[in-house]
Amino acid sequence: MKYLKSVIALFLVVVLLSCTDQGSPASSGINAPADKTLAQAAKFKIGCAVSVDLLRTNAAYLGLANKEYNSMTAENAMKFDAVHPEQATFNFSDADHIVNTAKGTNKRIHGHALIWHQALPDWVTNFQGDSAAWENMFKTHITTVVNHFKADITSWDVVNEAFEDNGSLRNTLWRQKLGPDYVARAFKYANEANPNCKLFYNDYGTEYSSAKLTAVINMVNDLKRRGIPIHGIGSQMHTHINHSNTMINSSLQQLASTGLLIHISELDIRTNTANLPTATYSPTVEKALADKYKYIAQTYGKLPSVQQFGITLWNIGDADSWIVLWLNQKDWPCLFNDKYERKMAYNYFYSGIQ
Ligand code: XIL
Repeated sequence: MKYLKSVIALFLVVVLLSCTDQGSPASSGINAPADKTLAQAAKFKIGCAVSVDLLRTNAAYLGLANKEYNSMTAENAMKFDAVHPEQATFNFSDADHIVNTAKGTNKRIHGHALIWHQALPDWVTNFQGDSAAWENMFKTHITTVVNHFKADITSWDVVNEAFEDNGSLRNTLWRQKLGPDYVARAFKYANEANPNCKLFYNDYGTEYSSAKLTAVINMVNDLKRRGIPIHGIGSQMHTHINHSNTMINSSLQQLASTGLLIHISELDIRTNTANLPTATYSPTVEKALADKYKYIAQTYGKLPSVQQFGITLWNIGDADSWIVLWLNQKDWPCLFNDKYERKMAYNYFYSGIQ
């Protein structure tokens, strides 16, 4: 009897362990070879968005960042408030750390993001001046930042998230102070600072809002018609397991119909779509996540290869994700779990990028 109880207890422990919220390591029919990486497998660039603090302090994180990817984006370190904290002060130390890390393993470095309505320092929000002063401040920021990285950064997200989900131009501070055509002028100034740089418009939601998709495409075509230097579109793809595959496919195809480079620029996939505190990383969720990663990778792979700028994953391990840290949601949106083990999603994504 005592023996039976121990066996039952052991069985329960095993069951419980297999149901933990860690995001279990690879356990499916599709398995990436342990000695191969995403960068080695993919026919296009695979990037990661990185936190400078984790690069500096976490060896496992740095190891994966170095090894698995061949493109790198700063998650926050190149945003306005990070590089330009005071009107007369530029601070590139964190951003330079990322650039040097990426250069150490010969990665492409993608700049993110010059003009956005978030991550603005107080001095910008409180800026007083006429339209010429605003224009000068806007241009100085773009010019100085693009110039600083001129030798190392060959692509930039110039304008980020200019549209609302309903397709209207977002009423940002930039729009209020500079007028609706600020987007075109941002591209012009970035191009003047570095004519060799590929310049991107970056936004989210084009895979679930057709109004936003149409607005982005119309704007891009208008910029092209006017001879404004724009070379690519970033589809952030902060998506979730229930977003329709048909719409993901159709949005990527339509974005590609502009002829520009297409970057899936911030890929992560939420599983806890109802944002429940009780959510678990069940085998069903694990498989749905893996399937979605594979679908997105394969669908992207079908775009014309000359337009494939690459896929960038928005951070590395589940515990590093902005969905967990910033949006405060319980979730498992990444390719690696919080122990930096490859998840089933990694293996499926790996099979999709070949
Ligand atoms: C997020 C970062 O991941 C967070 O760490 C930060 O605190 C807020 O911004 N769209 C973007 C990214 O273009 O810059 C955002 O990054 C996520 C949404």
